[in-house]
Amino acid sequence: MNTIYEKLINKEATLSVVGLGYVGLPIALAFAKKIRVLGFDIREDRVEMMGRHQDPNRELVPEDFRDCDIDFTSRPEDLGKASFHIVGVPTPIDQHNLPDLRPLLSATKSVGKVLKRGDYVVFESTVYPGCTEEDCIPILERESGLKAGKDFKAGYSPERINPGDKVNTLSTITKVVSGTDDEALDNIARTYELIIKAGVYRAPSIKVAEAAKIIENTQRDVNIALMNELSIIFNRMDINTYDVLRAAGTKWNFLQFYPGLVGGHCIGVDPYYLVYKSKEYRYHPQVINSGRFVNDSMGFYAAKQLVKKLIAAGKNILQTKVLVMGITFKENVSDIRNSRVSDLVSELKSYGVSVDVTDPYADSGEVEEEYGYPLVESAGKNYDAVVVAVNHAPYQDLTEEDFKEKLKDRGRGILIDIKGIYRSKIKEITYWSF
Ligand SMILES: NC(=O)c1ccc[n+]([C@@H]2O[C@H](COP(=O)([O-])OP(=O)(O)OC[C@H]3O[C@@H](n4cnc5c(N)ncnc54)[C@H](O)[C@@H]3O)[C@@H](O)[C@H]2O)c1
Repeated sequence: MNTIYEKLINKEATLSVVGLGYVGLPIALAFAKKIRVLGFDIREDRVEMMGRHQDPNRELVPEDFRDCDIDFTSRPEDLGKASFHIVGVPTPIDQHNLPDLRPLLSATKSVGKVLKRGDYVVFESTVYPGCTEEDCIPILERESGLKAGKDFKAGYSPERINPGDKVNTLSTITKVVSGTDDEALDNIARTYELIIKAGVYRAPSIKVAEAAKIIENTQRDVNIALMNELSIIFNRMDINTYDVLRAAGTKWNFLQFYPGLVGGHCIGVDPYYLVYKSKEYRYHPQVINSGRFVNDSMGFYAAKQLVKKLIAAGKNILQTKVLVMGITFKENVSDIRNSRVSDLVSELKSYGVSVDVTDPYADSGEVEEEYGYPLVESAGKNYDAVVVAVNHAPYQDLTEEDFKEKLKDRGRGILIDIKGIYRSKIKEITYWSF
């Protein structure tokens, strides 16, 4: 009898991708260039756009939909047409920084309802170790009345794509795969090998694959937190952190991390999943939580530094106007969710500062919906300070002259350069960076 992999490549079986966001859509389209794919998402408006070859997240272009054997649907019952399901729905945290598994468990339920004997389910959402086997598989079993391992197979393959990164892409990043048993692992690995040029890494268990993903982002978070803490210390010593890092970086084993605002739905979120699960094992992580604490406070910290500088310049805070350039959670993307720039803006506003925000990538309507204020169409000229909060490509080549034009009384203003882009270019205006 043909394996699921053989059925997929012979187009005798269909692969579904459940959740067509930053992760799901590129995977669905990559598979659809090789095998038959069904893309499922609960958001009808998004499904409609994808049907018209538009990526709601504006990451992919219509060309990326070309030569794809794919149907898009928002009807959960359609999932029954597929035999190999990949689940890539969001795994956010709630307002108490606890895992919010609702989208994942609901998507799992949708798959469980249509699951057939011989089917495969692979989870890609970032989760804590144990989530696939302890939280998701029981739902699949309950909804389908089938037994994992015997009647259907499951696996976990974390997604490592980096939005906005045109070098490290889905097909060029090694993909970690895992499965409930050897047969599952083999079929899952071979299926992913269809689209991953860099190859796959067969993890020894589902928990190992889950843990690997969560620590990749936790490690990054903790390392950035260290840089942020160093920048607080060096600020007091009146040393530029970026200059220090450049000097230290000449040593072969000094790791290249930089201070900054850690937002988005990966690095600032995933460590909380590990913290949560670790507490179940009666260990209360100190280092990971400290990293989160430091990184989560940097937006407020930057705002306070600016307010101090405004006061030192003799400004009446209630009459100051600040331009914040960049609201997205990182450079060169349009995603504004969990942007820590919003902390900076809200903290400035809490002091009575009036703030204009611009961003060449973000959508003003989305910003208003998420944060309660729109973007300004074009920045004015009479600001007391400018904050460059995100390292967007169009900001890279700005000169001191460009900032002077935006500042009141030319030159008598402040530039807060969160990412240290302009540190060697600014000679006259008051300058501060992390
Ligand atoms: N965005 C990234 O760069 C990235 C990178 C690596 C891993 N991840 C992880 O991948 C997962 C997905 O993230 P994302 O950024 O693609 O999310 P996203 O918010 O861009 O997209 C998720 C999609 O899932 C849909 N959805 C929500 N609930 C659903 C349900 N019950 N059934 C079907 N569809 C549903 C949403 O409508 C949306 O279209 C998360 O676990 C995330 O941590 C994301």
